[in-house]
Parts: sequence; structure tokens; C-alpha cells
Amino acid sequence: MIIGIFQTHNFEKPFLEAACANYHFQVKFFTARLDQDSVAMAKNCDVICCFANDDLNKEVIKSLHDLGVKLIATRSAGFNHIDISAAKEFKIPVVRVPEYSPYAVAEHAVALMLSLNRKIPQAYLRVKELNFTLDGLVGFDLHGKTVGVIGVGRIGKTFAKIMNGFGAIVLGYDIQKDEDLERTGVLKFVELERLFKESDIISLHVPLNAQTKHLINQNTIQMMKSAVMIINTGRGGLIDTTALIEALKKKKIGSAGLDVYEEEEGVFFEDLSCLGIEDDKLARLLTFPNVLITSHQGFLTAEALSNIAQTTFQNIADFGAGRELVNKVI
Ligand code: NAI
Repeated sequence: MIIGIFQTHNFEKPFLEAACANYHFQVKFFTARLDQDSVAMAKNCDVICCFANDDLNKEVIKSLHDLGVKLIATRSAGFNHIDISAAKEFKIPVVRVPEYSPYAVAEHAVALMLSLNRKIPQAYLRVKELNFTLDGLVGFDLHGKTVGVIGVGRIGKTFAKIMNGFGAIVLGYDIQKDEDLERTGVLKFVELERLFKESDIISLHVPLNAQTKHLINQNTIQMMKSAVMIINTGRGGLIDTTALIEALKKKKIGSAGLDVYEEEEGVFFEDLSCLGIEDDKLARLLTFPNVLITSHQGFLTAEALSNIAQTTFQNIADFGAGRELVNKVI
């Protein structure tokens, strides 16, 4: 089988090469992002392997079908970058990596939270310039604060347990309650409105879908405590960016740690240092000292990359051998 791996980054290539050494696949690495302009590169490929910022809309999927591609294997847990109904229409199964390391993403959410609270980016820059003053760097104890976790799945649960270690009060909201978490005292499940009203920090861990799009919007922000901290390692579309910017300007939102952004495609993972950015909302967000943005790197640990590579090639091998596709997106 010939596999075309789109948007291959240097940081992941050694892990992909190590995992594929166990199989007899012919692998083509492409650095291009998969979209309508690059889809022709999939010619002769039986399988294409994509990433969270590729754009597999209906047109791209039709082109993949016309080129004879038989399987789409995404190296991500989320699949909102793939038009699943189009894939069904063109009878191309989609497989993903549902779990690779909840610790990687949950720990990154904690890193954003602590960095914002204790103003580590500012402190780092000051000390580098031999400015050893402390004015403007006051944070707060996490101990005793209320942390709201929206989406208590693999990552949300892991994040909640870390918050237990800080001595925080943890509230959770999910459409499916894991009773064990309440029984063992990890968190208390509450209605979304109560979580918004009582939380000092809110961390987002739900998938992006029609129900969760713009979950954080003008109305829900109104319910929140003044100076609430928002952490988003889920998906950019969970937050209405315009509403976030307005709330930051009014200081209703005290700080925001964002690993994902609504319009991150074509920006995140790219070096635009010599070109600048055209996105005015992202540019505005970058001017707030109380906003910390990372470029979708929650998954970026050696353990996660190794698991992603291994599961991806296992998914492809299962397809090649006609075995059940356990990680098929339904
Ligand atoms: P998961 O499937 O284990 O958990 C998601 C949870 O959200 C489930 O408990 C589900 O019941 C809940 N949920 C779904 N729809 C909901 C709704 N409308 N309201 C409330 N709860 C709802 O997924 P996991 O592994 O915890 O990942 C969560 C998200 O994190 C992924 O969908 C992905 O978007 C994001 N992610 C981000 C990464 C990064 O690098 N920043 C890496 C991996 C995942």
C-alpha cells in the first residue's frame, strides 16, 4: 500500500518513521497542508494520512475519491477538519487516533493556567532584561479556587484530577456523567449555568460540534464571575472570538490561555515571522498581556507522538488486512 502523509512536520517525522518500520508500506511524506490546491499530490496513494489543520471538505474528498484513495487516516483525535458525511457519500472510511495521551493535553492546559496566573512570560522577559522588579506580577492561590471543567472525557478527567492536587474545588459539566468521578471526590457534576456562575477558572475539553460551537459567547460570558480565567485546549470554535475580545476589553474575562483558535488553519504550525498575519482578531488577541496563545501544541509530547504514529499505522494495517476498523469515525 502507498500512503501519502500530508502536513508532515519535523517534530513528528522520526516517530512516524519508527512506527512504519514495523510494516511493509510505501510512505510518501509531504509537507503541504492537504486542501484543494495540494490534493493532486495524493495521486497513486491508496491511503492518505492527514492532521488537525488539513482541510478535507467535500471537494477535497471527492478529489481523493477520483484519485482512487481508499482510506483517510487522521493523526488526530478530533475530526472536525473532515467532512464525514462526504467521506461516507464517497465510501472512504475515516480512521483516527481517539486516545494518545490525555496527560499531554491536560498538562498543557495546566501550563497555560499557571503561566497566566503567575505571569511567567512577563517575569521571564523582565529578568532577561535584568529588571528584577515584581510590580504587576501578582497572581492568586489556586488552592481553594473553583475550577470548572467543561467536557469530562479522557482529557477533562485527567485535568480535573490534577486540579485535585492543587486543592481546588472542581465542578464538571458533561452530557454523560461518570458517576465514579463524583463517588471518588474528583469533582461534582453541575448544570452548565452553575459552572459558569461559580468558576474562577473554566477549562474547555469538549469536541467541537454543532452543540458546542461558540459555547463561550456573549450570553454565557455574562453569567461568569468577573475576571474569570478561560483555558481552551479543545478547539478554537468553542469560543466566539469577538465576544472574547470584548469581554477582555471590559475586564469581565481576566485572562485567557488558548492553545487553539477559531481561524488557526493556515496560521498555526506556520512560520509567519517575516510575513505577518492578516487575521485582525488574532492580532488583537496578541496585544493583550493577559492572553497567552500557543500554536496547538497540547499534544506535543514524545509519548503522545509515539502513540499517534503507532495507532495510525495500526489503523492502516487493519484496513489493509480487512480487519475490523476499531478506530473508525462513525
Ligand atoms: P473524549 O471524547 O474522551 O471527551 C469528550 C467529552 O465531551 C465526553 O465526555 C463527551 O461526553 C463530552 N461532550 C461531548 N459533547 C458535549 C456537549 N455538547 N456538552 C457537554 N459535554 C459534551 O475526548 P478527549 O480525548 O477528552 O478530547 C477532548 C477534545 O480535546 C477533543 O475533541 C479535541 O477537540 C481536543 N484535543 C486537543 C488537543 C490539543 O493538542 N490541543 C489534542 C487532543 C484533543
